[in-house]
Amino acid sequence: MTEKLRKEEIKTPALLLDMDRMQVNLQTMSEYFRLRKAKLRPHFKGHLVLAFADKQIEAGAIGMTCARLEQAERLVQHGITNVLVASEIAGTGMMRQFVELSEQAPVMVAVDNPQMVCDLAVLAGSHAAKINLVVDLDVGLGRCGVTSPEAALSLTKLILQKGMRFRGLMGYGGSNRLPHGPEKERAARTMLQPLLYTKSLMESAGIAVEIVSCGCTADYAVMAAVPEVTEIQTGSYLLMDTGHNPFAPEFHRTLSVLATVVSKTGDERIVIDAGLKALGLNPELPEVKGAKALRVKALHAEHAIVKIIDPSVPIQIGDKIEIWVQYLDSALALHSRMYGMKGQQVEKTFKIDH
Ligand SMILES: Cc1ncc(COP(=O)(O)O)c(C=O)c1O
Repeated sequence: MTEKLRKEEIKTPALLLDMDRMQVNLQTMSEYFRLRKAKLRPHFKGHLVLAFADKQIEAGAIGMTCARLEQAERLVQHGITNVLVASEIAGTGMMRQFVELSEQAPVMVAVDNPQMVCDLAVLAGSHAAKINLVVDLDVGLGRCGVTSPEAALSLTKLILQKGMRFRGLMGYGGSNRLPHGPEKERAARTMLQPLLYTKSLMESAGIAVEIVSCGCTADYAVMAAVPEVTEIQTGSYLLMDTGHNPFAPEFHRTLSVLATVVSKTGDERIVIDAGLKALGLNPELPEVKGAKALRVKALHAEHAIVKIIDPSVPIQIGDKIEIWVQYLDSALALHSRMYGMKGQQVEKTFKIDH
C-alpha cells in the first residue's frame, strides 16, 4: 500500500478540505430535507467537484443547480441529468450549446426575456418540445429576472406558444445576511411573495407550475417550510466558509488554505506564501485556523502578512499554517484541486471542475 501524503508534505499554497466536517454538513442538510415536500437542488458552484454532486444526490438531492452551461454539460456527461442552469444565456453560440445539450438531457435554463425565448425557438426548430425553461423572477436582488408577475405570465405564454416546455419559476434573492430568527423569516417570506403570487396567476390562467425554485444556505429552512416551494438551491452549506457561517452556523467551515511561513520579523510578524491569488477576494480579512495568537493583517498578491499577537507562540520560518477560506466561490476559482484531509493525512485529492 502506498503511503498517504501528510499535510506537511503538501506544496503550498494549497486548498485543504476537512472531509469529516463536510460529511457532517451533508448529513445535517439531508436530514433536514428527508421528510420534507420541498427538495434540495444544490448549487454546483458551492464546490465544483463532481464526486460531491454524487454525494449530494445519494443523500437525497433531486438534481443540481449550476451557473454555467459548461458545468451543466459536465454534470450531464457525468450522469446527472436533472440540472437547472440558474443563469440566463444569450447569443447564438450559447443558445446552440443549450439546444444541443437539450438533445441529451432535459436540462432547464432560466429565462427572463422574450428575445431568449424566440432565439431558442428558432434554433431548436422542430425540437422545441425538448427545450425546458424556467421563468426567472427578480425577487429583490436586482440582477436578472422579470420584474413583475404579469411579465412572467406573458413570457410563459410565449414559451408555450413557441412549443417549448415551461417547467416553473425561480427567484434568487441573494444571500440572506441575517442571523437565524424572526427578522430573517420575515425577509425570506417577503422575498417569496412575488413568486407565490406569480404561481397563482399562472394557475388561474390554466398553466401548471411544476417547479418553484428558490432559497440559499442561510434561509433554506424558512423557504422549504412554504408549501408552494418545491426546491431549494443552496450552495455554500456543504463546504461552508467564514463569510456565510454566521448566517447558517449549523454548518461547519471545511476549507482552508495551507501556507508556509517564508519570513519572520522579530516577534512582530510573519509572512506566508498565500495571498489574494490563493485565498481569493475576501470581503473581510481571513482568519488563521486554530491560532488565536496570529492575525492576518494584509493580503498581497502572493503573500499575507500575519501579525504575531502573542510572542510566546513558537512560530518559525518553514512552519505551515492554515487560513480559513472567507469566500469559497472566489477561492475555488483559483485552485485546480482540493486536498481532502482526514486528520493530518491526505485521504483523497479532488479535481475542481470550473
Ligand atoms: C442563483 C443562485 N442560487 C443559489 C445560490 C446559492 O447561495 P448559497 O451559496 O448562499 O447557498 C446562489 C449563490 O450565489 C445563486 O446565485
